[in-house]
Amino acid sequence: MATNRTFTMIKPDAVEAGHTGAIIKMIEEAGFRIVALRKTQLTGERAGQFYAVHRERPFYNDLRTYMSSGAIIPMILEKENAVADFRKLIGATNPAQAEEGTIRKLYAKSIEANAIHGSDSDENAEIEGSFFFAGTEQY
Ligand code: PPS
Repeated sequence: MATNRTFTMIKPDAVEAGHTGAIIKMIEEAGFRIVALRKTQLTGERAGQFYAVHRERPFYNDLRTYMSSGAIIPMILEKENAVADFRKLIGATNPAQAEEGTIRKLYAKSIEANAIHGSDSDENAEIEGSFFFAGTEQY
């Protein structure tokens, strides 16, 4: 299988709780190479743009407010089968349903404050990575 890329963000709840280092350790130990990494905070407007696909969902405004409430750690990651393998590593959206040993099972507080994001397709990984990083910031 060809090496490819996914995009992730450690979300405000996990950054605030001091889980950044432990989560990055899990990601690297699972065989992902960090291509780009930054610490930043989204404005409400930028968070709304990032999650625009969920505009019609009932939780959209709460998600936008939450995702702009504190610092996040966006990253681009590389590995064979990156998108699917990363979704397995982070576990289900709702931590109550996440498998033991997954990042969300270990560190997420709720379906909203669920510690980490992972792209759901190669196409979205490319779009989401470009939302945060220029080509010259990817190594
Ligand atoms: S979908 O249809 O599979 O894309 O949706 P899902 O992955 O379940 O959720 C998309 C993102 O919305 C967040 N989410 C919520 N936020 C607040 N309240 C509720 N009820 C809720 N349900 C889902 C969820 O954390 C997803 O964020 P990302 O960053 O994509 O993981």
